[in-house]
Order: sequence, then C-alpha cells, then structure tokens
Amino acid sequence: MAGGRGNFASRLGFILAAAGSAIGLGNIWKFPYLAGANGGAVFLIVYLVFVFTIGISVMLAEFAIGRAGERNPVGAIKHLKGGAWIGVGYMGVVAGFAILSFYSVVGGWTIAYAVKTATGLLNLSDAKAFGGAFGAFVAAPVEPIVYHFAFMALTVAVVARGVERGIERACRVLMPMLFVIVIILCVRSLTLPGAMAGVKFFLNPDFSKLTGAMVTAALGQAFFSLSLGMGAMITLGSYLSKQTHLPGSALWVTSLDTVIAVLAGFMVLPAVFAFGFDPGAGPGLTFITLPAVFAKMPWGAGFGTLFFVLLAVAALTSAISLLEVVVAFLIDEKGVARPKAAIGAGAVIFLLGVPSSLSLGVWGDYKLFGKGFFDLMDYAASNVMLPLGGVLIAVFVGWVVTPRIMREAEREDGHLFKLAPAWHAICRYVAPVGVAWVLFSGL
Ligand code: PHE
Repeated sequence: MAGGRGNFASRLGFILAAAGSAIGLGNIWKFPYLAGANGGAVFLIVYLVFVFTIGISVMLAEFAIGRAGERNPVGAIKHLKGGAWIGVGYMGVVAGFAILSFYSVVGGWTIAYAVKTATGLLNLSDAKAFGGAFGAFVAAPVEPIVYHFAFMALTVAVVARGVERGIERACRVLMPMLFVIVIILCVRSLTLPGAMAGVKFFLNPDFSKLTGAMVTAALGQAFFSLSLGMGAMITLGSYLSKQTHLPGSALWVTSLDTVIAVLAGFMVLPAVFAFGFDPGAGPGLTFITLPAVFAKMPWGAGFGTLFFVLLAVAALTSAISLLEVVVAFLIDEKGVARPKAAIGAGAVIFLLGVPSSLSLGVWGDYKLFGKGFFDLMDYAASNVMLPLGGVLIAVFVGWVVTPRIMREAEREDGHLFKLAPAWHAICRYVAPVGVAWVLFSGL
C-alpha cells in the first residue's frame, strides 16, 4: 500500500471511521434541539443546502489535504504550502480543545442517562416531570462533572493506547444497532397521539422563521455534524491509502450523517409536540423527550438503557477523533509520546469542561455576551471557528494548492471525478462568499 502511515485496510474501514467521527451527539442531541429552536422545517432546508454544497466539498478537501500531506493538520498544511496557512491547522487544534470540553460534558450526560434509565428514571408519573429531572441533574454541582470525567477518561484511554481500531471493529456491530433503535423510536414517536403536529413543524416550512441567527446556526451545525473545519477529517485522511476513492467516500459519509440527523428529528420532534414540551427548550430537548417516549414503550427501561449506551459509544468515537487532532499534532510536531500527549491534553480539556457544566447550574448567573460558558464555547467553536476554518480550507484548495489537491481527489484506477469542476467552483467561490455572508450577517 502506498503512503507511509498506518493505512486503513479497506475503503469500508475508512468510511466507517469517518462516519464514526461525524455521527455522534451532533446528530442526536444537537440537531433536534437546534431544529426545534429555529423554526423546524426552514432550519432543515437551509441545513441540507449547506451540507450538500459547502459541507461535502470541504469534507472532500480535508480528505485530500490529509492524504496528500500525510500528517496532522498543522504538519499537512506545512508540508503542502506552509506560511500563514499553518495558522488554519493551529486554529483546528484550538477548536479541538474548545469543542471537546463541552462535548465531553454532554457525553457524560449520556452515560448518566444510561445509568438513570436502568435504575428507575422512567417511573416518573408524568411526562412533564422528565423536564424537571433533567434540569435538576445538569444544575447539580458534582454529579454531571463526575460523568464528564468518566467520559473524558474513556476517550483518553482509547487515544493514549492508540487502540482506535479495536473500537472501530466494535462499532461495526454497535452503530447498526443504534440505527435500528433510532428507527424503532421514530415509529414509537410518530404513532403517539398528537405527533403529527411535530411532523408538520419539521416538514412544513414557515419562511417567516428565516432569520440571520437561524442561518448561522444551520451553517455551524453543518460543519459541526460533519466534523469539518478543524482538521478531524484531515487527520483521518492522513491514514488513508492511495487507492481509496475520495469523492465517493465523502458522499457516503455526508449521506450517512444526514440520514441519522433527519431520523433524530423524527424521533424527537413528534414526541415533543405529543407531550406538549417546548420545541425551543434548548440543549436538554433530547434528554427530556426520549425518556418520556421510553416510558410509553414495552420494555422501555431496557430499550432506553441500550439506547443511551449506544449513544455514549457514538459520542465516544466522535470524541476520539477530536482528541486525535490534538494528540497527532503533539506527537508529529512536538515529539511528545502518545500516552503523555493524550493524558495531558485530556486533563486540560476536562478542566475546561468544568465551567461549562457549572454554567448550567450554580454558575448560571455569570454571562458574557448574554451567554453562559457552555453556550459561549459552543457558539465560538461551532458558529465561528469551524465555519472560518472550513472556509479557509476551501480557499486553500480552491486557490492555493489547487492542482496538487485536484489530482489527489482524482487518484483512483482510471476513474475520473466528473464533478471536479463543481467542487472546484464551490471551494473557490461559493464557500468563501457563502460563509463570509453568513458570518457577517450573523455578527
Ligand atoms: N461530528 C461530531 C458529532 O456530530 C462532532 C465533531 C465535531 C467531531 C468536530 C469532530 C470534529 O457528534
């Protein structure tokens, strides 16, 4: 096999690893509550447009940069061009710290909810009580931080030992299971009395809800959900064999990620309306709604526990790819040993997550720009750093290293990439103009 790094044995292996990074809390926790808070169907439409134009193009650009550069994002860009462009790689490392800090807090919630669902959470008599239960849980000073620690420790343990492959193998079984449970939950949610109001909300656009803030949220979510703009896909691409067809892989990963997000919408939003929750409830929406759905199912506690365990695994594979960006950088560029890099970075990220968790409870009154620490981290990373990083990657490919990267994307036994001109045009014009427009109108 060509290429000097530990390559993926097969194209399927690579697609699964990239999908493992992309599919996670972004799909099941974040997408439904963002859609709920931003007008439902209009959000879905704008999101899909971003995903299949700018998103898929930036994903292909990251794969190609990673494979051509054969290094972590900073090293790959240095190798291909250097100069100020290296800053894009550094920003990715910073974004990795920021995102993983609050991501791990939510990852902790999934573990906590697996435990709680198994130990009687569903006995609450009234659906509304699940809102109170979630609110009390996240507002507590200690318990969510203990789970945040547990989630971060798991992530560090995997990355420190470099055993991602073992996790990947397990995911070949676990992720299809998650998919099946999500489908079952969609069916249950859609057949609840009053669910159709949620379907209407999710599919019937009300264009008066089309605002600048909503478009910013949709763009940020496209980058967040596809793991773009901070080098995660560059890092994965660097482990890729020269035989793999990059455009096909990008299409697969983008499509899988989108299918899961849309299904998560059908799993959560109909139930939100059926139970009379507020679709704009924010980050708690999935954690409030799903227990209410489980409570209305036979074997609900078993299903619910299994669901949260699988969601925790999906979150773990995404967290691994986030930490891997930071760790690959420390190993390749700073010569740090892998275990030390993983433990050190993990400790800093854990500490950075503590104020995020506290900002949902005892530190709830401390606000900057009207946002608590959790929201501020999420906003800065998802809505600013990722789109900015993503657009710089597009410009890098569209204007700076074009011939080299175009060749990289086409390299496959005689196969031409027919959409190459469209890809080039999106990287060159559409992505920069689109993202600049959204960022400026958002701020
Ligand atoms: N895409 C992941 C999710 O949806 C989160 C993520 C963002 C992972 C950026 C890596 C890089 O859960």
